[in-house]
Amino acid sequence: MFIPDEFIQELKSKTDIVDVVSGYVQLKKQGKNMLGLCPFHSEKTPSFNVSTDKNFFHCFGCKASGDVITFIRKIENLDYIEAVKLLAQRAGLEIPEGSGQNSGLSKLRNRIYEANRAAARFYYKCLYSPNGKNALEYLHNRGLTDKTIVHFGLGYSPSSRFELTNYLKNLGFTEDEIFKANLGNKSEKGYFYDRFSDRVMFPIIDLRGNVVGFGGRIMSDIQPKYLNTSDTPAFNKGNTVYAMNFAKNKADGQMILAEGYMDVISLHQAGFENAVATLGTALTKEQAHLIARYCKEVVICYDADEAGQKATERAIDIFRETNAVIKVLKVPNGKDPDEFIKSNGENGAAKFRLLLDKCGNDVEYRIAKLQIRYDTDITEQKVEFLTEIAKLLASLDNEIERDAYISKISEEYSIDRNALSAQTAKYAKKNEPPPPMQTYKANNIQQNQNFNYPKSRAANAEEVLLALLMTNSDAAIAICPDFPPEMFTTPLYRSVYEKIKERAEKGLGTEPVDISGYFSNEENSRISSMVYLKPRENDPFRAVNIYMGILEKESRKLAPEKTAAMTDEEIMAHIQKNRKRKK
Ligand code: GTP
Ligand code: MN
Repeated sequence: MFIPDEFIQELKSKTDIVDVVSGYVQLKKQGKNMLGLCPFHSEKTPSFNVSTDKNFFHCFGCKASGDVITFIRKIENLDYIEAVKLLAQRAGLEIPEGSGQNSGLSKLRNRIYEANRAAARFYYKCLYSPNGKNALEYLHNRGLTDKTIVHFGLGYSPSSRFELTNYLKNLGFTEDEIFKANLGNKSEKGYFYDRFSDRVMFPIIDLRGNVVGFGGRIMSDIQPKYLNTSDTPAFNKGNTVYAMNFAKNKADGQMILAEGYMDVISLHQAGFENAVATLGTALTKEQAHLIARYCKEVVICYDADEAGQKATERAIDIFRETNAVIKVLKVPNGKDPDEFIKSNGENGAAKFRLLLDKCGNDVEYRIAKLQIRYDTDITEQKVEFLTEIAKLLASLDNEIERDAYISKISEEYSIDRNALSAQTAKYAKKNEPPPPMQTYKANNIQQNQNFNYPKSRAANAEEVLLALLMTNSDAAIAICPDFPPEMFTTPLYRSVYEKIKERAEKGLGTEPVDISGYFSNEENSRISSMVYLKPRENDPFRAVNIYMGILEKESRKLAPEKTAAMTDEEIMAHIQKNRKRKK
């Protein structure tokens, strides 16, 4: 669903944040703001601030903050659209469907949802018709109960190649709509035919309950084994997570990320209804953030084969950019989760539960992988192994965590604890950003507090720059298109900037609320708390240029001692001089 920017602005202007928050929190006036007990963490003295002026809330205790939409998302555990809908209802506003520049697109999207829904119903009926006998048998043979089949809406696409398209045409869908839904194609000879034929069908459902696409599995050895809906105006594979519609309500803090449809379905049937999967493509940042938004801990449970283990490494790196705790579950004997559960018959669920309870975190997983690679009985390999371990531990931000592993490893391999510790520290130092320097004064927030990122000069400047861009959409629209995201060194800030730039290029708003849909709750609180940061320069256009200059300069890695001695203005002048010289 597309909600026009103007509508969001209107909704925000017609909604008093104090009014909304008062429905959940008892607020008392204090100075310009309202103060109360934070609903997002437990506290005895109030540190939860709400400001009508700024249209913002901020908790000085847990650092939760954001606008009214963020507040509703957090407190009602809703996604962005759902929160907007709730607030719109409250304000008596009608969300304009199909209004504005995108009316054609959102109409088409709705037609595709309708066509998909009709198709899912058709496939399901076919599965339970004489035509679908083999398919139903196939699913039963794979251990699925009828209850599970209904729950996931599984179906069968008949082999004739015209039944679905005829069915949809009779319902009033045009060939163009069927084509755009990727349910049918036109042959060279000009006749229209079904895209899916003789496959078991898995409907893919988004968080709002729309059928956005399908996966179809062939029941023989013919390739491709799975055929998925290609991306359509209503379906973006990289943003979609299979079974998220069910799992988000069952997560209870944890989600299991598997590789395939069948893994997820088996896991759900065995009682693990917090299982999800990507759709046959590598995990994207967007998918990771979506998952992290609905849980605290993600258990990566990919296939035990080499491809699965490589994908695990990648997924760990991607999840490290979210706030989720990462665990890795490796199914024994080269099986995938589905096979594991089935091969253990009645004990499948219990045995998987054991694996789940004892699975290690991402660091332990990486250590275990190194242990396999080296034969530590050979001194030379032992040295290499421990060097790799030192590098791995150096990459951890948390010193306590680092220390715990140093103790564990040095004991296990009977080596000098201090030696491993020193080596780790050496590598850690190499990873460190340049020392922090205060280049701006935060307005009313204690900076450097509770932010996970090390505060380099670059990171500081990145925060102020983002604050400027998020509070001055005009400046963002004018300046961002020419400033590359690579200038940002901090991963989260770079992704924030990428989203801002993407929107600025289209002339759209760049406030926290505009980009909050792409980030987790924790990230959003960090992002929206940044808007309080103020540069020393008042003119936003000039300020944006100054801070972009700092980033540009940092990225060129001028000698740190020189950098520290220069003021922002000097840096700007320096860069401008360099630019001129280049010309
Ligand atoms: P089963 O063999 O039915 O148990 O499936 P699986 O989930 O074990 O399959 P596998 O581990 O081979 O693949 C994992 C996921 O990758 C699948 O669920 C699909 O989403 C996707 N996938 C597998 N094979 C293909 C293919 O041939 N084409 C495409 N596009 N995706 C595939
Ligand atoms: Mn499988």
